[in-house]
Amino acid sequence: MTPRCTLAIFFLLVFIRHIDGSGFCCNLGTQTTHLLDPSITVQLMKDNGFEKVKLFESDGTYLEALAGSKLQVMVGVPNYLLSTMATKPEAAEEYVANNVTHWRSKDVDIRYVAVGNEPLLKSYGGNFTNYTFPALQNIQGALEKAGLGKTVKATIPFNADIFFSPTGSPSGGIFRPDIEDLMVSIVKYMSDHGCPITVNIYPFIALYYDPNFPIDYGFFDGGVAPLVDGKYTYTNALDANYDTLVVALEKNGYGSLPIIIGEIGWPSDGNPNANASLAQRFYQGLVKRVRADVGTPRRSTAPDIYMFSLIDEDAKSIAPGPFEPHWGIFNIDGSMKFTLDLGEGKNLTGAKGVKYLEKQWCVVSPDANVNDEKFAAAITEACSHADCTALTPGSSCGSLDLKGNASFAFNMYFQTNDQKSGSCEKFQPYSTITKTDPSAGTCKYPIMFETEYRGSEQGHVQHGQGSGSGSGSGSGSNSSAGKINSGVLGAVMLAMIMVFGYLN
Ligand SMILES: *[C@@H]1O[C@H](CO)[C@@H](O)[C@H](O)[C@H]1NC(C)=O
Ligand SMILES: *[C@@H]1O[C@H](CO)[C@@H](O)[C@H](O)[C@H]1NC(C)=O
Ligand SMILES: *[C@@H]1O[C@H](CO)[C@@H](O)[C@H](O)[C@H]1NC(C)=O
Ligand SMILES: *[C@@H]1O[C@H](CO)[C@@H](O)[C@H](O)[C@H]1NC(C)=O
Ligand SMILES: *[C@@H]1O[C@H](CO)[C@@H](O)[C@H](O)[C@H]1NC(C)=O
Ligand SMILES: *[C@@H]1O[C@H](CO)[C@@H](O)[C@H](O)[C@H]1NC(C)=O
Repeated sequence: MTPRCTLAIFFLLVFIRHIDGSGFCCNLGTQTTHLLDPSITVQLMKDNGFEKVKLFESDGTYLEALAGSKLQVMVGVPNYLLSTMATKPEAAEEYVANNVTHWRSKDVDIRYVAVGNEPLLKSYGGNFTNYTFPALQNIQGALEKAGLGKTVKATIPFNADIFFSPTGSPSGGIFRPDIEDLMVSIVKYMSDHGCPITVNIYPFIALYYDPNFPIDYGFFDGGVAPLVDGKYTYTNALDANYDTLVVALEKNGYGSLPIIIGEIGWPSDGNPNANASLAQRFYQGLVKRVRADVGTPRRSTAPDIYMFSLIDEDAKSIAPGPFEPHWGIFNIDGSMKFTLDLGEGKNLTGAKGVKYLEKQWCVVSPDANVNDEKFAAAITEACSHADCTALTPGSSCGSLDLKGNASFAFNMYFQTNDQKSGSCEKFQPYSTITKTDPSAGTCKYPIMFETEYRGSEQGHVQHGQGSGSGSGSGSGSNSSAGKINSGVLGAVMLAMIMVFGYLN
């Protein structure tokens, strides 16, 4: 082969790779007490080959930092705005002007507008059902009116509870009967206007609600008897779930509607099946799959798969389960939880330029009397203002004794409050500050980082009381409730598909 020919083939391969677009996509939530500097976050995504990012709103915090980054962006209209968007076309036009056109003119490459977040979730009791479709029409209409019809598309991220399979196999896929007519109208509109449909898929939640769910089915590395569905064979929940939707679409005449996977991930703490090694296993399989650019048994084109999530969110409601703050590929400070081979000779790399507070921890004082009446109350107090989910049984700090629990809780409170004076003393006489890292084994006592950015407007979110849904503050839209229900419903559906098919 002549050098020129070799070179030509080389560039052709590079070109094919490029148009194949096997970069990574992720979600970026803001339900945190401390938000990593947006410019550090954008660099973190670039360093690790992320090319597309999905936000839950469209406030300026991240968008400013995304200007000129070349990352493609999906912004989101929170559920609480759906009624306005549905009933006032001019509000949708204003949204597009302020939150799409404005940012595009600043070189933020917005490509999608997510209209609501899992708005037809069964547990919302139909609260958004009347507004979802008109809001989609008004937003897409406003995009077209603004001259963005070809560049920016509206979509709706749905929970996987909008479809299921009565037969237990993907070939039986149908839309949920109570919203079937509505779904047919929505997908027809999407098809007519070149909009994709988006679906969130959670194998971990299926496992969480159903101990009989074959755990290996959640991953991508086999170890499970395949589900055979006619001429198609399934070895993982993602493929089976996705193809159930493909079939539901086909049955209604929209078999080629583009599908985006809006959220998929595996938490690293807060449950016996949520640890860094299982999360590593999940993401390593997913990354390999994305790099291989493969589709599912029924659809050969690889979908965009938005990992949930880039960074942990310590202020997420734990109503769905104590694993909720731990969906990040990275810790809240952008540090690594596990290594990943990203392909193309690259490894996962942590955030750069993060400034940490002083190396000091608030722990239990050596002479604290654990039998003291107020001792337990001090722990409860600390944990009601800080994320103590790592203490739950089967979690990274789940086997500490009572004093260990106190140390962990006091330190989380202290760090969450930026080590402010008084925030350790608050727990005296039981607490004291130490310069010796109390971390041991899997149990890490973090040091908070310096930042001027806060994710949650309310500051420190009261844990354990959240309803899991958007609270109206505008910061609660990030699908916690989705996870409760992808739990119950997703589990039912997945269990039907996986277990029945699996046992047959
Ligand atoms: C849209 O943009 C406006 C003005 O920049 C901002 O105040 C508002 O929060 C944005 N809306 C959403 C849903 O993010
Ligand atoms: C639906 O909305 C009503 C009125 O805002 C509210 O009281 C109710 O809790 C909501 N239902 C659910 C399931 O969120
Ligand atoms: C939705 O519309 C139906 C029919 O118009 C009405 O009966 C129902 O109350 C509406 N639901 C909500 C939550 O607005
Ligand atoms: C992670 O969880 C799995 C399943 O519970 C368990 O088998 C494994 O030992 C755990 N790994 C670590 C490092 O804790
Ligand atoms: C990636 O990590 C592996 C070990 O996990 C190491 O052997 C390899 O050299 C690393 N590659 C790069 C490019 O750093
Ligand atoms: C430590 O805290 C966790 C979470 O609250 C609890 O489940 C566990 O029982 C506590 N351990 C002890 C020894 O009190």
